[in-house]
Amino acid sequence: MPLELMEKAFAEVLGTSDSGETLEKMMNDFAARMQLYRAGIKEIRTKLEILDEEFQTKYSYNPIHHIESRLKSPRSIVKKVKAKGFAVTVESISENITDVAGIRVICNYIDDIYRVADLLTGQDDVKLIRVRDYIKNPKPSGYKSLHIIVEIPIFLSTGAIPIPVEIQIRTIAMDFWASLEHKLKYKTANDVSPELRERLKVCAEKISVLDTEMQDIHYTIQEQNGIEQ
Ligand code: GTP
Ligand code: MG
Repeated sequence: MPLELMEKAFAEVLGTSDSGETLEKMMNDFAARMQLYRAGIKEIRTKLEILDEEFQTKYSYNPIHHIESRLKSPRSIVKKVKAKGFAVTVESISENITDVAGIRVICNYIDDIYRVADLLTGQDDVKLIRVRDYIKNPKPSGYKSLHIIVEIPIFLSTGAIPIPVEIQIRTIAMDFWASLEHKLKYKTANDVSPELRERLKVCAEKISVLDTEMQDIHYTIQEQNGIEQ
């Protein structure tokens, strides 16, 4: 895309009337910042993959079912920074938005969630910024997941820059519920009725029972086979 068109599109997303050199500098700064978030996702993903492989070697068992990641779109970033009442600048985004880099870790069993979180946050270069445990304290919707925000240094030619990454850790069962509930909620322009919300919540509770039962079966089999946890 020619530079002028890119600048026009960028100005439109930001809702700015800046132009010329000011706009070009802002666009370059924004691109540089996005590259850091991309690097943050790579770093955390690699750490998680290494932990999972170690478990496979040691215990013939993978705590992680799979990993998903996403970079928040420029449009969503601007929308969020505006909604929070902050300025639409690269500095303000860097200071106030902690979920530009997002990773979702889908685990097999509930205990794996805490194991993965502890092993990751225990690493020297990973700084724990925030924990929200929606497994112990589910959301009113019934949503369950462990949300952590960590900071990881990204090493550039000029030195290290700490970058926040939001990690959502949940079981396959919790993810099944969250994905479908999200689709159901956002499919309709109208609000989902209280009855349906209640039914969705009951589904979340039933899924929880299954998670606990599956974990119990898993431990029993491990025990029968003399595999230590
Ligand atoms: P945000 O500004 O929305 O990021 O709020 P927050 O920083 O307080 O984050 P929170 O810990 O509430 O997590 C927000 C994210 O969790 C959302 O982007 C969803 O991915 C997920 N989430 C939270 N509540 C629900 C829910 O009821 N249903 C589903 N499907 N997902 C949820
Ligand atoms: Mg968030």
